[in-house]
Amino acid sequence: MTAAEILNKYIAFFEAHGHKRIAGAPLIPQNDPTTLFTSSGMQPLIPYLMGEVHPDGTRLVNAQNAFRAVDIEEVGDDRHTTFFRMLGNWSLGDYFKADEIPWLYEFLTNKQTGLGIDPTKLHFTVFKGFEDIPQDNEAYKIWEEVLQIAGVKDYQDRLHWYGAEKNWWSRAGTPDKMPVGEIGGPDTEVFYDFGDENIHKQSLWADQPCHVNCDCGRYWEIANSVFMQYRKTEKGKFEKLPKQNVDFGGGLERLLGAVDGLTDMFQTSLFKPTIATLEQQTGKSYADNKQSMQIITDHLGASCLIIVNGVKPANKDQGYVLRRLLRRAFDNFSLLGGKDILPVLETIIGQYNETDPILEQQFEEIKNTILEELQKYEHTKHEAKKFIEKKYGNNVIAKNEVTKQSSPDLIKNNEIAALSRQVGIARSDGKSPLHDGDTREISADDAFILYTTHGLSPTQIKSLGYSFNDQEFAQKMEEHQKLSRSGAEKKFRGGLADHSKKTVMGHTATHLMHQALRDVLGNQIHQSGSNITSERIRFDFNFDRKLTEDEIKQVETIVNKKIKENLPVHFELIPTKEAYDMGAIGLFMDTYGEKSKIYFIGDTAKSYKDAYSIEFCGGPHVDFTGQLKSFKIIKQENLGANLKRLYAAVGD
Ligand code: SER
Repeated sequence: MTAAEILNKYIAFFEAHGHKRIAGAPLIPQNDPTTLFTSSGMQPLIPYLMGEVHPDGTRLVNAQNAFRAVDIEEVGDDRHTTFFRMLGNWSLGDYFKADEIPWLYEFLTNKQTGLGIDPTKLHFTVFKGFEDIPQDNEAYKIWEEVLQIAGVKDYQDRLHWYGAEKNWWSRAGTPDKMPVGEIGGPDTEVFYDFGDENIHKQSLWADQPCHVNCDCGRYWEIANSVFMQYRKTEKGKFEKLPKQNVDFGGGLERLLGAVDGLTDMFQTSLFKPTIATLEQQTGKSYADNKQSMQIITDHLGASCLIIVNGVKPANKDQGYVLRRLLRRAFDNFSLLGGKDILPVLETIIGQYNETDPILEQQFEEIKNTILEELQKYEHTKHEAKKFIEKKYGNNVIAKNEVTKQSSPDLIKNNEIAALSRQVGIARSDGKSPLHDGDTREISADDAFILYTTHGLSPTQIKSLGYSFNDQEFAQKMEEHQKLSRSGAEKKFRGGLADHSKKTVMGHTATHLMHQALRDVLGNQIHQSGSNITSERIRFDFNFDRKLTEDEIKQVETIVNKKIKENLPVHFELIPTKEAYDMGAIGLFMDTYGEKSKIYFIGDTAKSYKDAYSIEFCGGPHVDFTGQLKSFKIIKQENLGANLKRLYAAVGD
């Protein structure tokens, strides 16, 4: 079976059970500043899981392009990719466990309506409970019934309890890690057992007992049904969401591996042609160079998908991630002696033709972006060498002294092992992938400067012919990551993922400000991003010069006038074309199907034309503008030639 066939079967199965197919959201979230990439099917649906009405009803299904930057370091273990397609079905307060579990089982195992996976290969995990959230006896019982009816005799051996660290899902992880306002719930997962004990014996986990949710690779998680029903409260407790939802996600690439019984995802029909091209271009075998070839295949594919979403390699945000992916792909390609990366690119794009034809359409753009970055990377390496030469002169030390320093004993140390997983291609014997010839020893501090200012990874630094104390470097990396993690947490907390009262007020104020800016500066103004926290509103829009003080005053006056008028705020589900004709503004337009959810500010009892603001939006909002009390612009920033940013505050 091909990936596209699995995808089509899944959609057809859930459509037959009353689900409406919705378009996948763009890989780069359009109006969600809380995260850099769309990393799951549920992410664009958060407002609806929190209780907002969805224009396409209460049963939804789709295939979502997803990217998980956290998995960059995991690629190379046969079963991880950064880019993947997530098959998803949702119940927004409609069906629950008693339907989801039997449907999922049928889809996975039935030869006609589903994938026909052998049930004796499957295991099922259920939530054991956490603090005041009870054990999921209901899901367990439903699985028992389903498996009994299906004639699975040893069903009790196939059902397993796990705690919150394994059977709880939220974007932030376990319940204790969830920020206030975040939603989550217990889940039940399905694992495919490849049945090969050697996988565990040869893995990093060999000294621990193997189990169904072990990370060794013998078992693959192929399906995850989250019973999304809780929200974290200010007191660190959990309250029930207005509705009990189902949020199912299954990785298409893993399902393909399970259907074909292949423990190496890169041997499935989706990736095999790319691996063959890599073998051709490098003259090396896949068997001896698995890790590098998997990294190149995944990273180049992910890069193509990111590039067609309008991202260019850069030093921050999505651009930084793209740069990292490309440079790791380049390094591994040159490590294998590859010369021309274009045939590899062409094969990858061909593989996605059926599901993502945009890659073929934008081939020139992709190719130019990648080749330009390759040139920049060469320049960076040249500059890094100049920096070191200036500092160290010709202080050359012998190669054998260096390899002693990264001895196998050291590499066994946990920190270094983590580091080598992180850099992806460090060899398991602890030796650095050095070029032939002499090597220079540099301080860990200087290596770290090459990492932070030139953007070179430890492996990249070593491949330039430098060595340094791995352990000291790992320590610096750990400190650095702590800092960026806390930054990321702050970022994660921002925006509308937090549905506190103040944030919802800020959201409505943003609609008013958007329209007021158009009143003052002209209808060419449109939002290009926003970030709303309970402290402030941040709003980006296209404009070619600084706003004058008078213009800022005018915008404030209009918004405050609309607040005083205490206008009603409401939404309607409207055919998308009609919404366009009404002049509705907003960023979500591409993601909706036939009907769209439109928020109106103003009394539209006589005519929608009486509304002050009409926007495509998922919500939520206050009911009346009077609840905003007052509005003030705090500062403006210039983000570029045609991009400005305003900060504003709302409330008392
Ligand atoms: N949200 C869950 C996941 O991403 C299920 O869709 O795995």
